[in-house]
Amino acid sequence: MRLDKLLTAAGLTRAQAKRAVAEGRARVNGEVARDAGLRVDGMQVLLDGRPVTEPGEVYWMLHKPAGVLTAVRDAREKTAFALLPEDVRRREPSPIGRLDRDVTGLLLFTTHGELLHRLISPRYAVEKVYIARVEGTPDASDAETLAAGVAFSDFTARPARLEVLEEGLVRLTVTEGRYHEVKRLLAAVGHPVLSLAREAMGGVQLDADLDAGEGRPLSDDEIARLFRAAQLDAEQNDHP
Ligand code: URA
Repeated sequence: MRLDKLLTAAGLTRAQAKRAVAEGRARVNGEVARDAGLRVDGMQVLLDGRPVTEPGEVYWMLHKPAGVLTAVRDAREKTAFALLPEDVRRREPSPIGRLDRDVTGLLLFTTHGELLHRLISPRYAVEKVYIARVEGTPDASDAETLAAGVAFSDFTARPARLEVLEEGLVRLTVTEGRYHEVKRLLAAVGHPVLSLAREAMGGVQLDADLDAGEGRPLSDDEIARLFRAAQLDAEQNDHP
């Protein structure tokens, strides 16, 4: 981790962190640090003589509303990232996968690079569960088609599990995150999506108490589920 990132994680704004370094108030392994970009992993860092320790990772759940981009930054459009509380944003967590602008529901954020990588990599086949309102109502043969893996011109989708919840309302479980995959799969069986929401990912459900736009940190149990889904050793989970 860079020195400036560690200082911001410890509660300073970026500007304050830069100024603290420029003013010689930060020491790394006993030496006054001059470079805010210095990597300080495993080193002792003092600010104004007091130790600054590396904080735990961020694991955050957001109920993404419609109309916001998943992108971390966008010059013109509202982003999901901007809906995180400031102290969480300062840690610069990344979204775990993307949801289209019109898609709502569970969007997870983390600073844990390896967890992020595995949860979105098709290799680990992490389940993502969507609820879709569709035109018409799919039948058993549509479910079979989706379970067999639909072939598109650019890729063949992995098998997806379809459950019809009620007329025009389905749950679809996929294990990869191709661009517009759920919309494309349902359109391919003749039931275009009217609205789409993600309900769960890697065994973590969207908290029904969160209104659109709200979020909260993941519980220990939810973090453990993600680590299991990503086939990662729980020891790599260094949240506080
Ligand atoms: N599939 C889609 O079509 N859109 C999303 O946002 C996520 C999955």
